[in-house]
Amino acid sequence: MVDIGVLVSGGGTNLQSIIDSIETKKCSARIKVVISNKTDVFALKRAEKHGIATEVIKKEDFLTRESFDTELAARLKKYGVGLVVLAGFMRIITRPMLEAFPMRIINIHPALLPSFPGLDVQKKAIEHGVKFSGCTVHFVDEGVDSGPIIIQAVVPVKDNDTVETLSKRILDEEHRIYPEAIHIIGEGRLQVLGRRVVLKDGPEPTGALENPPVSIFADKTLP
Ligand code: GRF
Repeated sequence: MVDIGVLVSGGGTNLQSIIDSIETKKCSARIKVVISNKTDVFALKRAEKHGIATEVIKKEDFLTRESFDTELAARLKKYGVGLVVLAGFMRIITRPMLEAFPMRIINIHPALLPSFPGLDVQKKAIEHGVKFSGCTVHFVDEGVDSGPIIIQAVVPVKDNDTVETLSKRILDEEHRIYPEAIHIIGEGRLQVLGRRVVLKDGPEPTGALENPPVSIFADKTLP
């Protein structure tokens, strides 16, 4: 069981999926605190509804990113947090946080990293014409969406997708894999070998995907 702090900046649907997975005992973790860099975001209301402690740290109160992160780390430590979970937290993490929580900060990103780091990635995936996208849970390092990858889920990109339809398909997978990632970290089942993160005694992945699924014609012989 791991004690987590969840960092948010917005609606908090990923936070909700983590809360729900803990309450239904699919994910063994305890949320010690939810911290937002913005007041009045719905994620805070979600936390309060479930009796979880909340805090707001505003960037206006700090001169530098580093001083913000020093305060953030201190608050998380105050709550006994052992794993920091970024769930739509719209800030770059700097050295004071990375030093306070080495390889103990994770993020979820709505693309298959290392493709499409940064912002507006569902739009970029559609415009690039990729046939698959998805989401990635990764450890946070000093780069942007660049840390070692823990788990990914893949979804097809459909010819008629809009940013909204693709985002929804990806978000559904985010809600599934983020609590899974927290659970396996809490169980101590991950081994980090440089950039490679290995699930100890994990099942073998199987299957291959194709888009467009031309192979559905494979058993038909040509005229
Ligand atoms: C998600 O798409 C997540 O991948 C990204 O920010 C969004 C957060 O959504 N990092 P929510 O606040 O969890 O609903």
